[in-house]
Parts: sequence; C-alpha cells; structure tokens
Amino acid sequence: MNKPLYNFFTNDHHRIEALLNKATEKAGEFEMESYLQFRIGLLTHIKMEEKILFPAAQKANNNIPLPIAARLRAEHGALTSLMVPPPSAGLVKVIRHVLEKHDLAEEEPGGMYDACEALTKNQVNELLEQLSKVTEAPVHPHNTAAYALESAKRSLLRAGYNYDEIANTA
Ligand SMILES: [Fe+2]
Ligand SMILES: [Fe+2]
Repeated sequence: MNKPLYNFFTNDHHRIEALLNKATEKAGEFEMESYLQFRIGLLTHIKMEEKILFPAAQKANNNIPLPIAARLRAEHGALTSLMVPPPSAGLVKVIRHVLEKHDLAEEEPGGMYDACEALTKNQVNELLEQLSKVTEAPVHPHNTAAYALESAKRSLLRAGYNYDEIANTA
C-alpha cells in the first residue's frame, strides 16, 4: 500500500534521530550545532503533527479524537519541555527513551500514522502541500535554571514517565 504520510513522518523520525546521534557521537561531550538542529527538527515535527496531521484526522473522524491522541499530545508536551534544559547524559537518555516509545506508537502497524493515513486518504496531496509549507519551530536558548529541569520532570510525569527512574537505570 502506498503510504505517503506514513513515509513522510517516519523519514522525519529517522532524520531527527540521526541529528541526536550526531550531537552525542563523541563520548562525554555534546556537539551543540547538531543538538540545536535536533531541537529544531523535533519541535517542527511536533508542530506538523499537532497543527496539521492530527487535526485533519480528527476532523475526518467526525471530530472525535483518536484514542491514542491524548497520550501522544502529553508526550509532545513532555518532549518539548525536555528541549529547554541544556543537554546532559541523563537528559539525553530520557529523551531517547520517550522518543523510542512515542515514535513506535505512531509508526507501528495500526498505530497513529496508519489511522491518520486511512482517515485522510482523500486529502493526502493537500496535506503534503500544507506540510511542505510549515515553517521551522522557534527554539529558545537553553534555560540552565533548576526549575526548567523540574518543570520538564513534572511534564514527563503527566505523560507517565519518571525522569529520575529512567535517567538512573543502567
Ligand atoms: Fe509525535
Ligand atoms: Fe512523530
């Protein structure tokens, strides 16, 4: 089956993951230009899902949110808050953990992307056109204050993840 939206978003997941890998390639240091590109990529990806893909699917579903949408939205909030503190080994570990589960829920057979693709099959070209016009999400300088990390931890808890537990497990 031809799955243009699935392919578009899944390729973007891989692109974003590659940027994070590049930023963390050298042990004990972060390559900040790649890390910045990773943050821009992830926030722009979330923007495309929240502003274009998910609303289009919900609209085509008689305006009823898809069952998994609330979980994905909470995880988008958590991932967004994790972009605020400067990177550390623990922070990056938590980002990878959440991203892996999140991307799987979107990509797996019968997951969010399959559901969106099926619901919007009559407007694929229109959606791809809108997606191609999305501007990059704005990214602010890192906030090094302790409350930025605390606020990310609370946002993660709301999405069902315990930051310290994930960061401290081998
Ligand atoms: Fe997502
Ligand atoms: Fe995604």
